[in-house]
Amino acid sequence: MRETILVLDFGSQYTQLIARRVRELGVYSEIRPFTTPIEEIRRLSPKALILSGGPSSVWDEGAPAIDPGTFDLGIPVLGICYGMQLTTRLLGGKVERSEEREYGPATLEVTDGDDLFGNVPEESGVWMSHGDRVLELPPGFKSIALSGNSPAAAMKDAKRRIWGTQFHPEVAHTEYGKEILSNFVIGIAGCGGSWTPRSFVETAISDIREKVGGSKVVCGLSGGVDSAVAAVIIQHAIPDQLYCIFVDTGLLRDKEAEEVVASFRGMGLNLAHVDAGERFLKRLESVTDPEKKRKIIGEEFVNVFEEEAARIEGAEFLAQGTLYPDVIESVSVKGPSATIKSHHNVGGLPEKMSLGLVEPLRELFKDEVRAVGAELGVPPEILGRHPFPGPGLAIRIMGEITEERLRILRHADRIFIAELRSSGIYDDIWQAFTVFVPVKTVGVMGDERTYESVVALRAVTSLDGMTASWARIPYDILEKVSVRIINEVRGVNRVVYDISTKPPSTIEWE
Ligand code: XMP
Repeated sequence: MRETILVLDFGSQYTQLIARRVRELGVYSEIRPFTTPIEEIRRLSPKALILSGGPSSVWDEGAPAIDPGTFDLGIPVLGICYGMQLTTRLLGGKVERSEEREYGPATLEVTDGDDLFGNVPEESGVWMSHGDRVLELPPGFKSIALSGNSPAAAMKDAKRRIWGTQFHPEVAHTEYGKEILSNFVIGIAGCGGSWTPRSFVETAISDIREKVGGSKVVCGLSGGVDSAVAAVIIQHAIPDQLYCIFVDTGLLRDKEAEEVVASFRGMGLNLAHVDAGERFLKRLESVTDPEKKRKIIGEEFVNVFEEEAARIEGAEFLAQGTLYPDVIESVSVKGPSATIKSHHNVGGLPEKMSLGLVEPLRELFKDEVRAVGAELGVPPEILGRHPFPGPGLAIRIMGEITEERLRILRHADRIFIAELRSSGIYDDIWQAFTVFVPVKTVGVMGDERTYESVVALRAVTSLDGMTASWARIPYDILEKVSVRIINEVRGVNRVVYDISTKPPSTIEWE
């Protein structure tokens, strides 16, 4: 049985980070909602439990809680922030309600460096983000660290093997966070740390073989990292049973289709290239509403994919590059959030196809997919590509999509990306692209007055696309890009740089 650390989620923005940090230690970690029944936890037989932080106060009416029996499962428990306050409350200590939050850096003073704080200096920086604080420890517990604001910045009951920290060890600002989590996961819980990309691939391959048997699998490739790595794992498992389909929507970047096809064929994948650009453009004629564009593209994608898949006789499975963040049952603290954009609409499962699903990446975070891809020899030019939305250039052309606008955008985009690559900053940027702005402005070229379109440059840094800052690209690079676009791309006489963060703006303009 694979060693697992179970993280019970109380809705903290850092919950996924806890799982990722544990995995970085070579130990598989899963996130479940705090409502997970105790029998289910037993069935998963984790080596230890981590209770995440969360936005609630233990004093709130209906504050999230767990069965106190969870502490008697015979496995170590670590409560972080809200997790520590809840532990205190459930086990008979006192939590003080506070209207003020302690937020930001603080100094931790370790008073017991035995287990959780082994190899952690007496004083170090930690990251705090809490309202309530522990006032009186539950019976059997002792304080093992102090901070300016908390007499019990961390606590333990060595006998019952329960620990709590008021601060967030999973956050990079906590100087010795990695050591603390390692002390818990490896030292206290006794995990071996053998979960690596290689071991993941071995297990995934045998799982795929077992699931699929002798059947055929159809896989849609988008050119992105996830579908590529999913296909390559399946290829390793069942080389003669995989049929890949690349739907060319006509909304891709310059030369992208050719490059994608060449690199996938180079990896030995059996690939059908469906050139469906005309169909997409026809359906998008005079459509300007972003959500309508997405809907049409999503529908048409499914149509094309289905037609192509129907040619593969006897296909019983559909492969998808679903990732772990899509699978985690999120703890909704404030109710389901409003739909801002209907993402992930393209390449969605055509349910009527009634195929079984193969999702080899369901357990992985994005950075782990890259590591697995590298292990499998997926070329760096595919692994390192910026994310590209399913609806492609359609949502980067404001308003109507025309051949002329596509030409302008492709050309401008090619120049921007080429300059980012040649100046060596492409890999520091999460996503960079150009946007066609259908606004005409006046310019002067030679002695002539011009009246042409605007191209906006968008480049952001981000960890997961959920929040983003605009990339601080050096002025001389921006200048070069601007000069080249205005000189080389017919129909553009003005280039602007988008300096909006997300939120309140989004990364894409539509
Ligand atoms: P936003 O614009 O919402 O984008 O800040 C966040 C991330 O999602 C990508 N994106 C999409 N991906 N279909 C996709 O597959 C879509 O309709 C879509 N819209 C945005 C965007 O490129 C960024 O990485």
